[in-house]
Amino acid sequence: MARKRILSGMQPTGELHLGNYLGALKNWVNLQADYDCFFCVVDQHAITVSYDNKALPKLVDDLAISYLAGGVDPSRSTVFVQSAVPEHTELAWYLATVTQYGELGRMTQFKDKSEQTGAEAGASAALFTYPVLMAADILIYKATHVPVGDDQTQHLELARNAAQRFNSRFKKGFFPEPQGLYSATPRIMGLDGHKKMSKSLGNHIGMLEEPKPLWKKLAGAYTDPQRTTQDEPGRPELCNLFRMHTALTAADRLPVIAEQCRSAAFGCGHCKKELEASLDRELAPMRERAKELRANPERLREILGDGAAKARAVARETLREVRELMGIRGPSL
Ligand code: TRP
Repeated sequence: MARKRILSGMQPTGELHLGNYLGALKNWVNLQADYDCFFCVVDQHAITVSYDNKALPKLVDDLAISYLAGGVDPSRSTVFVQSAVPEHTELAWYLATVTQYGELGRMTQFKDKSEQTGAEAGASAALFTYPVLMAADILIYKATHVPVGDDQTQHLELARNAAQRFNSRFKKGFFPEPQGLYSATPRIMGLDGHKKMSKSLGNHIGMLEEPKPLWKKLAGAYTDPQRTTQDEPGRPELCNLFRMHTALTAADRLPVIAEQCRSAAFGCGHCKKELEASLDRELAPMRERAKELRANPERLREILGDGAAKARAVARETLREVRELMGIRGPSL
């Protein structure tokens, strides 16, 4: 029995922040032990809304560097850029034939994103069909599992529907119906405590942030809003810093830290210092790996080139089968 297979991707918005790392990337890194993994930088999804064409190539490289620095291991996993495997977009066209127009119209992310950029009617057709390309990303590798955030549930459902319809029309059991894998780490809030951590809100800590600016940001970070002085008891279960401790600090320290907070034995500054140490332990080797890759751009090209070649071999084979099943002659003639 073949190993279970994963595909996941992120949009190239540059270097990742701590919320992306703890909530998503760290999960990918851990999954490498048990799954055959494909990790992709989805540059063709990034162009479905207005974007800076001059900046895009560097954003793609920076995200790839974040994947690798964070612990995605190219000797175990296939790491590549979506546009380096043009088979995705061809499969997206075929999957569009088994996707319903009304189904796409119900996608809440389309509604949200098109509202942000003005009226729905002015949104690009590519934004509308975004979930079909995402389904192709997944199905072209016959992935069985997809680690994603819970904002992607609806898109995954669409991918399952496309797989189901394709299978029932053309060949039973051809595409697996991909299941979501949701990370156990609670959502990391921004340093301002109000919204989810995000680069555009400027309330983030970079995954590759140097120790000094990192401490400056951490020192100013929002904790339990009801704890205005050190003598008041805190509520670790509501505190964003404690969430980070949960993801980063040794398990036997967690009850101790929680108790120090609840009993007001120590203030938030003390808790932040310990978090700084945990962060440094986790992030220092990542900063090192990122520096090495930046100093050696040929190495990055080589990793992404190898990844694309491995991905393409699988993608080509799926596409050959799909064309044959659908009665499409394709480029072989
Ligand atoms: N839509 C995903 C997001 O915004 C990104 C994505 C594109 C993706 N293709 C994918 C995620 C395939 C998982 C699998 O987060």
